[in-house]
Amino acid sequence: MTLSSPRVLAFAGALRKGSFNRKLIALGAERAHAHGAEVDLLDLAEVMMPLYDGDLEAASGLPPGAVEFRRRLSLASAVIISTPEYNSSIPGTLKNAIDWASRPPNQPWRGKVALLLAASPGLGGGARVLPDLRKVLSGIGVLVIAGQLGLARAGEAFDDAGKLKAEALAKELDRVVGELVDVTRKLTAG
Ligand code: FNR
Repeated sequence: MTLSSPRVLAFAGALRKGSFNRKLIALGAERAHAHGAEVDLLDLAEVMMPLYDGDLEAASGLPPGAVEFRRRLSLASAVIISTPEYNSSIPGTLKNAIDWASRPPNQPWRGKVALLLAASPGLGGGARVLPDLRKVLSGIGVLVIAGQLGLARAGEAFDDAGKLKAEALAKELDRVVGELVDVTRKLTAG
């Protein structure tokens, strides 16, 4: 049995430059690399796409942003997503990208292994978005691992270098990313 390096696509479900989820996904990507994964850190702004419209799809197929998003997904065996929580659920930007990328044929989500992270300036740490995102991804064939991390009080959580100030949180992030890499290695072992 060969345990190869998993290829991980990492992205935040947020667009704003100062996004806490962008900071958290950067750390998640760094830990995945430290665990031996090849990491593709994607900025969702690179794959902007219109709101899903079945008429648009029927007339001209997938928009270029969705094509590129699917291509990057197809190259990966695992995914790390760090998502904001909007009104107790998944931000429209992220859900829209998931929806475009879920269209047949050859929808690229199926068989991926995923780790979910969330960051919020509030006390809940995105506790309400995580189960919603887990449900959506599970429904399109993604194996979402048990480990996850919801970062509360994200406004105070990072130092000037973008690291997590609390050692316990940094360790927990490392642990859940390690779980993702480990599970993916085992599932993709040749
Ligand atoms: C929010 N925010 C928010 N936070 C939260 O913990 N639970 C929630 O239900 C909501 N709802 C919500 C709705 C909308 C429309 C916005 C714009 C914001 C606050 C949110 O967590 C905060 O803006 C984060 O900073 C967003 O994540 P990024 O951009 O920092 O990654």
